[in-house]
Amino acid sequence: MLHATSLCHHFDYPLFNDVNLSIEPKDTIAVLGVSGSGKSTLLHILSSFMQPKSGQVLIDGKDIYALDETALTALRRDYLGLIFQQHYLFRGFTAMENLKISTMLSQEAMDEAILKRLKIDHILHQPVSELSGGQQQRVSIARVLMKKPSIIFADEPTGNLDRETAGEVMRMMHGYVEETSGALFIVTHDQGIADQCKRQFVLEDGALKER
Ligand SMILES: Nc1ncnc2c1ncn2[C@@H]1O[C@H](COP(=O)(O)OP(=O)(O)O)[C@@H](O)[C@H]1O
Ligand SMILES: [Mg+2]
Repeated sequence: MLHATSLCHHFDYPLFNDVNLSIEPKDTIAVLGVSGSGKSTLLHILSSFMQPKSGQVLIDGKDIYALDETALTALRRDYLGLIFQQHYLFRGFTAMENLKISTMLSQEAMDEAILKRLKIDHILHQPVSELSGGQQQRVSIARVLMKKPSIIFADEPTGNLDRETAGEVMRMMHGYVEETSGALFIVTHDQGIADQCKRQFVLEDGALKER
């Protein structure tokens, strides 16, 4: 589904060198590492949002940083699901409106079961700006699951959630990956969440090491 080869990136100082990673159907991958080690940067590079200084990312056989804008937009819409640390919901709109915009773009139906499991079915008509951080996070997770992506990229997706809700969110994502033969790439601080994934990596000393 994804092949990354020889990825290198730096800002004012080196971040990582020669990172190689393949993602296959039903893979669930956790990346751990101390704050500032470059985990979010790596996630942005793999998910088409930041071009690496060198190296290549193939998704669904396509060299994503060589695609034109139209092809890249289509790949993001149809193939990728992103749960970022910041939620990127439209703040002036309700939770329901945010979900509708997304399902309309991806031409998928609104999935009531997802709303119930994430316990957001009762807050759908509130403006996003009035929701708690955890509720906003769950709306953004619902939005991503409903568009039925092949690969889900999630950056600390359970950071704002209590233990029980975090557990439910993770069960949903793992279940989704199994059912759809998709894949999950997750950045987390939580060793317990990493332990639920099939593969674990640590980003340290500029290298991505499998555990
Ligand atoms: N767009 C950027 N421009 C310059 N420096 C950045 C940018 N994004 C991240 N950094 C720096 O790169 C380092 C790694 O950041 P990040 O990938 O967010 O790490 P992590 O997610 O592991 O905490 C940090 O020191 C951060 O300040
Ligand atoms: Mg980060």
